[in-house]
Amino acid sequence: MRLFLDTANIEQIRHGVRLGVVSGITTNPSIISREGKVDYQSLVKEICSIVPGPVSTEVLSQDAQGMIAEAREIAKWAENITVKIPASLDGIEATSVLAKENIKVNLTLCFSLNQAILGATAGATFVSPFVGRLDDIGEDGMKVVADIAQYLCYYQLPTQVIAASIRHPQHCLAAARAGAHIATVPYKVLLQMIQHPLTDIGIKRFTEDWEKVMGAKSIDPGKL
Ligand code: E4P
Repeated sequence: MRLFLDTANIEQIRHGVRLGVVSGITTNPSIISREGKVDYQSLVKEICSIVPGPVSTEVLSQDAQGMIAEAREIAKWAENITVKIPASLDGIEATSVLAKENIKVNLTLCFSLNQAILGATAGATFVSPFVGRLDDIGEDGMKVVADIAQYLCYYQLPTQVIAASIRHPQHCLAAARAGAHIATVPYKVLLQMIQHPLTDIGIKRFTEDWEKVMGAKSIDPGKL
């Protein structure tokens, strides 16, 4: 399972890329707004220059023609742009047109297998079921991810499922077990994924044992 970061914050993105584990970015209008009153195009172009993989950027129009016009413009901003289109009827119409023009679409605000089936059939590159938001209303968000992953695999379709609206590390585990191609995670969750108290205790103990006998906290690479 690949990892994308669900943020538009440049520092967080730079750190994720430096770690070597972030291969794409997802944004939405709320995520962009968190960065203040920014120049949308400049911010997205900067993100695209930092990240090696797909950067999802959402349209704001709600009618098919408006979405298509916006997506065509956004797609010119960088090679690695993916346009986020909502899983509405107009969104499916827009996805069909854009896919034929080889513009990559991430079908967003996806909450059911039926929406994903329509998105994949229309030619979306990615479909993004929102796990946390489904859990919030008492549904099983990860079951939708698993159903979509199984459907795409069974019919050998090229569309990839992105487990989105991830809220905590347990969601990452469940997404991997459900067969998601990608999980897009908030920066906070990315940092939580590495945490384990036994790792911290182990590092401390190794250092103390070494220091007791060798009299130094670390190895001098020059003396190896
Ligand atoms: C995914 O592409 C969305 O940007 C995101 O995961 C939404 O998550 P939220 O439900 O935490 O807003």
